[in-house]
Formats: sequence, structure tokens, C-alpha cells
Amino acid sequence: MLSTESMPDWTMDPKTRAERVAARFRETFGGEPELWARAPGRVDLMGSHTDYNLGYVLTLPISRDTWIAARRRDDGTVRIYTMNLDAEDEFRLDAIERIPGSKWCNYVRGVAATLQDAGLGPMGCDAMIHSTVPLESGLSSSAALESAVATVFAGLGGWDLTNERKALLCQKAENEFVGVNCGILDQYSSCLGRQGCALLLDCRDLSTRAVWIAGGIRIVVCNTMSRRRLSGGEYAQRRAECEQAAAVLGVSALRDATPQMLAARRHELPEPAARRAEFIVAESARAETLAGALTADDRPAVARLCAESFAGARDLYEICSPAMAAMMDAMLAAPGVIGARQAGAGFGGCMVALVDAASTDAFRTAVLDAYYSATQVRAEVYPVEAAQGAAVFDGAVIGK
Ligand code: GLA
Repeated sequence: MLSTESMPDWTMDPKTRAERVAARFRETFGGEPELWARAPGRVDLMGSHTDYNLGYVLTLPISRDTWIAARRRDDGTVRIYTMNLDAEDEFRLDAIERIPGSKWCNYVRGVAATLQDAGLGPMGCDAMIHSTVPLESGLSSSAALESAVATVFAGLGGWDLTNERKALLCQKAENEFVGVNCGILDQYSSCLGRQGCALLLDCRDLSTRAVWIAGGIRIVVCNTMSRRRLSGGEYAQRRAECEQAAAVLGVSALRDATPQMLAARRHELPEPAARRAEFIVAESARAETLAGALTADDRPAVARLCAESFAGARDLYEICSPAMAAMMDAMLAAPGVIGARQAGAGFGGCMVALVDAASTDAFRTAVLDAYYSATQVRAEVYPVEAAQGAAVFDGAVIGK
């Protein structure tokens, strides 16, 4: 949830990207980086707002990612520069303070402070950030940054930090230091991604299952380019309404409410909590069902599940904006579309389409044209690949 529009050219090949990051590192800090880390953004294929209800999400860690090139320092200071914003931050590890406002550097500071609280003792470093995850658009740029930062500290410190623990610590940093009460979806996606697979995440026991997507289906992100508005307050409100519904139903989370229970007792729930619960119970079940449909290449099922998800997001969970409705129309009218729906928290930002692989280019052109005609806004439409979770990599070799 960072706040700027400036993005580097994301179509850059990895070699050029590594050269540019290394060059900027030299210019800013002098010398060469000794460690490179990367962490992906994510797009959810099904399971809007199910994570904090401890339900299922089908998520795809994506090929848009955040890179950090780093080198240790022995004076207990962290100096960090972001190429996306042309901004830098410096702080001492023995006095980590939160900067007022929603500043990018709070994600870095928050991860350092949380690792410290967990007894891990991060060391000082110089670090250069470069991200191709669009900011504030619902693809988890903040979780990608947190996960990349945690990977840098773990790499420099030589710690054996499991991906699960890393994700939980990053979520803690966002909840407690940054002050955003998100669920586990974003950090888990960024830390646990597996190349070539979607992940079915069970947000109660935090287990994940790799889900293979049939080869003829491509995942295409369609960015409305409209900022997610009100998402902070609306997000907290949705959470509170879900908790209210769970309390009336006598369950610890909506994960435990079955469709039968809800049908029998819906009249006991006040509105809008009843509508919210109806959406969450159905959406969590859809995440599991879509996993099977994508593997089996069951296109009618994919179409139906995505349509139900969007209708529920619009009418029951009320997280859709006019820009999202216009994008939905554009996606559904485009050649090759199999299914389309919202992504992230809603309220604008990116949406996602499942598209026949052979028609991806025609789909893209048609969506761009139709969305522009309807809104006079130029969207961004691009296919994404399933990416590996946060890890160190050899940037020096890539850059040669
Ligand atoms: C945001 C939050 C996640 C999740 C989604 C909605 O991305 O950070 O935890 O709740 O919204 O599914």
C-alpha cells in the first residue's frame, strides 16, 4: 500500500535490471552488493477477504517482483534507497522509530524491528530496492517489500528462517508496526510461492497446496488504474462486520459457518453482516472448487465460479467501484476470456482474468480498447507467470 505512481520499466530483461540496480548501488553506496534477494507480488484467483475469516484463498505469487541488492555494514545502521521513488531512508537498529504517515520506509523499519523483537538480531546494511509490482493496485507491493527485506536480513545474518515464519513475521510487522490490520494472504503468497503453481492456502492451519493450472489457461492482470479508495476504513469495517456475524452464529470465525447453518440462521443476523457472511462462506468454498476446475481445465466451471465471485463482491460484500464494473464488462466482452473477477481488497486497483492462452494478445488489445472507450482511462493489461517465493539469488551472475 505504498503511495506513488512512478514505476520503472517492468518489461526490462533480468540482465539489464540487475546491471541497473548494481550501477545505482555503486553510485549511492560505493562498491558492490554482496547479496541479492527477490520477493513476488501476488494476485488472488479466488477468495476475496476470506483470509481474516480463516477460510481458503487460491493465490498466485506472480512474476512482478521486488529486488533488493545489499551489503552488510558493521555500524548498526541501515541505509536503504528505493529506485521506484528515488528516495532514501537511514535508521539505527538500536532506535527504530515509525515515521508518521504511510511511508514506504515503515515497511523496512517494521520488518527490522519485528525481527529484532523475535530475537533474530538483524545487522546493518546498505540496500537498493527495485520493484516491478505496481504500487497501491492490489498486487501486494508492500508484502513483496517486506518479504524481500526479511530475506535480506536472513541472508546477511546467515539465519535459517523458514518461509512460514518469515511470512508471519512480515505480517506482524505490517499489523503492529505499520498499523495495517491485514490477514496472512499477501505475506504467505510472497514467501511460499512455487514456480509454475498457484497455491491453495488454508488460512486456519496455514497449510498450502500447490495447484497446477492447465496449460491452455493464462492468468492476465487488468489494472483499472483507479486508486483503491477508502480501502483502509472500509477494510476494517468489513472485518468488524464478519466478526459480528461470527459472534451471532456462535463460531470463532466465519470459516466454521456452513452454507446450511447460514441458510437456517441468516434471519438472526443484522444487515449488512448477513450479506458479508453469505459472501465469505460461498467465496471460501469457491476457492477450493476453482483449484480443481483450473487443474482439470473445466472452463464452464471456471466461468461460473468467477461470475459468482464478482456478483457477490458487488452485491453482498460491496467492494466494487464503477471502474471495476467497466473493467469487468471489458474483460467479459474480450476474445478468449474464460472467467474474470476482482482481485485484492477491491475498491479499484487490479482485476484478474483467466484467458485462453492462444488468445492472450487479442484479449489484451480488446480490453484496452473497450476500457478506454468506456472510461477514457488507459488500463494496463498483462499476463503473469506463477513465481517462486522470496529467496536470495545471484544478481551478479544475472547482470553479467
Ligand atoms: C488485502 C489484505 C489481505 C486480504 C485481501 C483481501 O490485500 O492485505 O490480507 O484480506 O486484501 O482478500
